[in-house]
This record gives sequence, structure tokens and C-alpha cells, in this order.
Amino acid sequence: MTIETLSGQPLSAFCFGAMQFGENADEAESAAMYGACREAGINFFDTAYVYTDGASEVILGGLLAEERDDIFLATKCASGRKATPDVIEAEFDESRKRLGQETVDLLYIHQWDPITPLEVSFGKIAAYVEAGAVRYVGVSNFSAWQTMKALQVAGDLGIELKFLQPMYNLVKRQAEVEILPMAISEGLCVAPYSPLGGGLLTGKYADGGGGRIESDPMYAKRYAPAWMHTAAENLAALAAVEGAYPATLAVAWVARHAGVTAPIISARSVEQLRPSLTAMNFGMDDALYDKISTLTPKPPPAHDRLEEG
Ligand SMILES: NC(=O)c1ccc[n+]([C@@H]2O[C@H](COP(=O)([O-])OP(=O)(O)OC[C@H]3O[C@@H](n4cnc5c(N)ncnc54)[C@H](OP(=O)(O)O)[C@@H]3O)[C@@H](O)[C@H]2O)c1
Repeated sequence: MTIETLSGQPLSAFCFGAMQFGENADEAESAAMYGACREAGINFFDTAYVYTDGASEVILGGLLAEERDDIFLATKCASGRKATPDVIEAEFDESRKRLGQETVDLLYIHQWDPITPLEVSFGKIAAYVEAGAVRYVGVSNFSAWQTMKALQVAGDLGIELKFLQPMYNLVKRQAEVEILPMAISEGLCVAPYSPLGGGLLTGKYADGGGGRIESDPMYAKRYAPAWMHTAAENLAALAAVEGAYPATLAVAWVARHAGVTAPIISARSVEQLRPSLTAMNFGMDDALYDKISTLTPKPPPAHDRLEEG
């Protein structure tokens, strides 16, 4: 099944994430990035209730207002591991106000809630689908077994769970083990986030550059291991040989996986965004894909029978 915007345009091969809107990117820079994405053919935009105290949704809503039906608009609710009907309703209703929209194309549950039964969370989401306020349903940061349970529950409620949003990049490859093969098997769309490892894979930290990996303690911890920094340096060296930006290779590598529908790219400025946009038409061949893949360890298979290859 082809996923389309309300106006019937097919979903673009890349998604743009508005997590920097209203914080590291002011309104003017956000508008410039939105424009650059539209020029490049991107119609898939991602935000969340929890981003930048709501500024991300307000700014994105303003930018797409004039061309709403040509945009595939995704937001997320329940990021605090609490996907109760009350939380979903309060957050999603507020998101729609900020976006200035009654309907979104895609609503994700942002994180797995270990307490609330899936039947209860998805019962609330199903009501929004039936009311026409949500076109497609997704889950983010769910494991494969959680997703399979959610697929069953959503199906029993008469709605389809169609999108996944996992983390996936050259130094965070866990999704290769279960999530991406599951998505291929079940016909799910995957929009992976952090294709640049939060900026690490641009190679700038080895050159003395700064950014989120230094300023945000969560990202500093996530990308602390020395081997990840070595991989970023090796990717930069390979990019120099290829005459490409490391960021272009990093994003094109994520996009190249058969289970990936649209990597979510992002930046704080148009200048930063360019190498990621270039990845859309990079056309990475098998040899380069394999070379990049060997820069980091392939995660072991779920059954751990490593001797079988
Ligand atoms: N579902 C979830 O839990 C979740 C989590 C995270 C993100 N997301 C979504 O995914 C989107 C993308 O995630 P992400 O921001 O982590 O993606 P990313 O592509 O891994 O990192 C983007 C960051 O890298 C740095 N950067 C990008 N291009 C650069 C360049 N050319 N030179 C130097 N630095 C550059 C910038 O940060 P600095 O300038 O600060 O270094 C930029 O904000 C978000 O906007 C959001 O929509 C979802």
C-alpha cells in the first residue's frame, strides 16, 4: 500500500524532524530549513508534543498551514512512559491546537508504557482514528516484541499500526537485529531517528567542533564510547576518499537498509542540513555500503548462534 498525503502525493523518501525548531533554530532558520526540505521534495515532517515546550509544533504548524494537504504531518504523544487515555487526550488535543490542525497524518505513541495495558492506550488512539483526527498510527522506541503485541491489539480494535520510529545509525545498530526484519516481514513503515548519531557522524568532534553530544548530558552518555568516536573518524576518512561529506554517507547508509522507509534528518541551520539533503540522491552502491558497514560491529543475531554466520 502506498502512503500518501491528503492531496495524493506519495510519501517522500526522507522525513525532516523539527526537534530543533524554537530552540537551536529560531523561527527564521526553521522556515529556511522547511523551505530547503520542500525544495528537495520532502513532504514528511516529524514533531512531538514534548519538543521545545511546544514551540516545535507551533512553528511547524505555521509553516505548513498554506499547504497542509501536501504535507504528511506526524506528531507523538505520551513520551513520559505513561500512555493512559487521559495523557493521550490532553497531549494530543494540545498538539492539535499548537499545530492549528484538527487532523494529523500520523500519531505515534512516543515510548512504551510498562504499566498501562496496550488495549487501553490503543482504545483511545482508535477513537481518534474513527473520528478522522488521525490517519495512521505508529509507535516509537518500542522493541520488536512490544511492537508485535501492539500490532495484535491494534488489529483487534480495528485499527492498523503502520509506522515505527526507532533509533538507527552506524553506531546504534540494534534495530538491524529484530526491528527492521520485523518491519519487512509485517509490511510496516520505518522512519528511524538520529541518522547522524546526534551529530557525531558528521566527524566534527574529532575536528574540535561542538554541539549536542557535548551540551546535552543524555546524548553525551549515549555516544560516549570511544569506539563510536573512532568509527566517526573512520567514516570521515572514507568520506574524504569518496569526495563526500561524512553526514551524507551516514544518512545514505541508513536509508539504504531495505527495512527503512524514510530516515528522519535534522539540523540547526540550512548550512548543516545540506549534506543530509544531498544523501537523498546519493545512490550508494553495494561496495560502499559494505565498506561503511564494516566500520562498526554488526550486532549479533537474536538467537546468538554466531557460528552460523
Ligand atoms: N522518537 C524519538 O524518541 C526521537 C528521538 C530523537 C529524535 N527524533 C526525531 O528525529 C529527528 C532527527 O533526530 P536527530 O536530531 O537526533 O538527528 P541526527 O541527524 O542524528 O542529529 C542532528 C544533529 O546533528 C548536528 N548536525 C547535523 N548536521 C550537521 C552538520 N552538517 N554539521 C555539524 N553538525 C550537524 C546538529 O546538532 P548540533 O549542532 O547540536 O551538533 C543536528 O541537530 C528529530 O528532529 C526528531 O524529529 C525522535
